[in-house]
Amino acid sequence: MENNYSVVKMSKEYVDGVFKIYCENFVEKWSRKSIEEEIDNDLARTLVLLDDKKVIGFVNVRHILSEGDITNIAVSNQYRGKKLGLMLMDKLIELAKSEGIERYMLEVRKSNNVAINFYEKIGFVKVGERKNYYNNPIEDAILYDLTID
Ligand SMILES: CC(C)(COP(=O)(O)OP(=O)(O)OC[C@H]1O[C@@H](n2cnc3c(N)ncnc32)[C@H](O)[C@@H]1OP(=O)(O)O)[C@@H](O)C(=O)NCCC(=O)NCCS
Repeated sequence: MENNYSVVKMSKEYVDGVFKIYCENFVEKWSRKSIEEEIDNDLARTLVLLDDKKVIGFVNVRHILSEGDITNIAVSNQYRGKKLGLMLMDKLIELAKSEGIERYMLEVRKSNNVAINFYEKIGFVKVGERKNYYNNPIEDAILYDLTID
C-alpha cells in the first residue's frame, strides 16, 4: 500500500493526537490545554506528522528573533526508524529559513542515545552540558546547537 505521510501546521483538529503522542513520550506534563494554546502563541510553531489524517508525530519549537528553541519532538513508536523524524525536521528547517531563523538550540537527556544520534545526523553540534537538569529521573542534559544557513 502506498504511504501517505505529510507534515502540516498544528490546527485544533490535531490537538488530541499531539497530546496522545506527547503523553506517551514525555514525563514532564503539558496539559492538553497548554498544547492547544500553542496554536495562538505567536512564538510557538508546532508541526504535525500525519499518516493520512492520523497524527503520528510532532515537533514543537519557539522562535525568538533569529533563534529557535526545540522543546519537543516525537514520532509514534510503531512509525520510528522510517526517516519520518528526519522528514519532520526537514519541514521545520524549511519553515525556520523562511522566518529568518539562524540557529536552533535544544537539550536532550544524556542517556537518550537514539535522540542524540538523531540530532547529530541532522548536524546539531554539542555545545555544553547542564548538571541535573531533568527530574523524573534526575539526569544531566546535553545542549546542542544547529546553525541554519
Ligand atoms: C528521536 C525520534 C524523534 C527519531 O525519530 P525517527 O523517525 O525514528 O528517526 P528517523 O527514522 O528519521 O532516523 C533518523 C536518524 O536518527 C538516528 N536514529 C533513529 N533511530 C535510531 C535508533 N533506534 N538507534 C540509533 N540511532 C537512531 C539515526 O542516525 C537515523 O539515521 P539512519 O537511519 O540513517 O541511521 C524518535 O526516536 C522518538 O520519537 N523518540 C522518543 C521521543 C524523544 O526521545 N524525543 C527527543 C527528545 S526531546
